[in-house]
Parts: sequence; structure tokens; C-alpha cells
Amino acid sequence: MEQQFWVDSWDEGGTKTSFHLRDVHEHAAMLASQGVLDGARVLVPLCGKSVDLPYFARYAREVIGVELVPRAVTEFFDETGLTPVEGPSGVFTAGNLTIHCADLFALTPAALGPIDVVYDRASLIAFPPDMRDRYVTALTALTRPGTRYWINTLEYRPALPSPPFSVGPADIEAYFGAAFDIDHVRRDPRPGHRMVEKFALDFLIEHGFMLHRR
Ligand SMILES: C[S@@+](CC[C@H](N)C(=O)[O-])C[C@H]1O[C@@H](n2cnc3c(N)ncnc32)[C@H](O)[C@@H]1O
Repeated sequence: MEQQFWVDSWDEGGTKTSFHLRDVHEHAAMLASQGVLDGARVLVPLCGKSVDLPYFARYAREVIGVELVPRAVTEFFDETGLTPVEGPSGVFTAGNLTIHCADLFALTPAALGPIDVVYDRASLIAFPPDMRDRYVTALTALTRPGTRYWINTLEYRPALPSPPFSVGPADIEAYFGAAFDIDHVRRDPRPGHRMVEKFALDFLIEHGFMLHRR
């Protein structure tokens, strides 16, 4: 979506930011229990004010979030009680946790440094189809051979015209297959998901894929 869409979403809050979860996502907890995060530099693109960030910081060597909207970053530090130090413009650090308040598409591999693990929840699926190739190109450039990239998606019918967009296994193969090996780890039907009733969906499945950069 265009940047103003996200600025407006954070200003309005409520249902506009219902992607924000109060609790650590079960996929994040699964990665921690499997040791995937141990000693790693973890990139969380489009991080919002996710509580997964401080959770990851307990296991990882370094956690690097990227979030466009200053209000989300301010709320993150207010609500976690962490006190950041502001470095170069828009880079906020508290211990081993850093948030770049920036447009993901403007970041370079040099600015972020080597990334061991990417955690993508509600990030690829935040973009409409015509922006996804750009996102995949950007994320591929920010990774390196050996990087593990966890991606969480929702697949549902009928399609909706706003985020979160439906993205299934065939889409992941099409977007990432050229640069990553793909392991389809989780496929969980979610008949009780809030979107099913709200949009009268036929079905909704939550997926988790582990991509390995070649
Ligand atoms: C659907 S939310 C997902 C938030 C987070 N991953 C979570 O699990 O709560 C997408 C987030 O990406 C941010 N965003 C959108 N476009 C962005 C961009 N180009 N660069 C950085 N952040 C962006 C939005 O402000 C929003 O907080």
C-alpha cells in the first residue's frame, strides 16, 4: 500500500491496526524453541510495534526492526517501557534491539549489516500484488546465502482488496523460488479467525514457510 495508508492507519488505530497482536505469535515462539534465533542477527521488516521484537531480543544477538511510521515506533517504546537512544536519523536502539524508522525500500545491505534470520509476519501480505515483486527484490538484496527467512501468510477466499492480502504456497514459490529453497512448515486452518466472520470468508488458512537463501 502507499505510505499514507499506513500513516492514516496508525493515526486511526482501532480496527485499522488490528494486525497488532497483544501476545507473542506462536510462530515466533516456535522459532525460539527450535533455537533458530540463538546468537542470530534477526531482521523484522515492517515490524509495527510487535511484541515479538523484545521476545526475540531474549534469544538473538541482535534484533533489527524496520518500520515506516514514527507513531508506531513511539508507541512501541512507550508500551514496552524500553528507553531508546537515537543514533543516526531515525535509528533507535535499546540494548540489542534496534528499530530503523524508515522506508524498507530505502535501506541498503550496508545499513543493516549481515542478516542471519528474517521474520516476516503480515509483511509480504501487507502489499498488494503490484508491489510484491519490489518487496521480494528488496528482501532478497538484504539477505545473503545461508540466511533463513521465516514467512507467515494468510490464504483465504474470496479475495479482499485491502491488507492482509491472500498469499498461498504457490505464490510463495513464484515470489521466492528463484533465490530460496522453500520448506512449507505450517498449514493451519483458522475457522475462528476474526476475518472469517467479518468478511464471510469461505476459509482461511495460516501458513508458515522457512526459506533458505541459496
Ligand atoms: C500489517 S502491519 C504488520 C506489523 C507487524 N509485522 C506485526 O506483526 O504486527 C505492516 C506494517 O508495515 C509498516 N510499513 C508499511 N510500508 C512500509 C515500508 N515501506 N517500510 C517500512 N514499514 C512499512 C506499516 O506502518 C505497518 O506497521
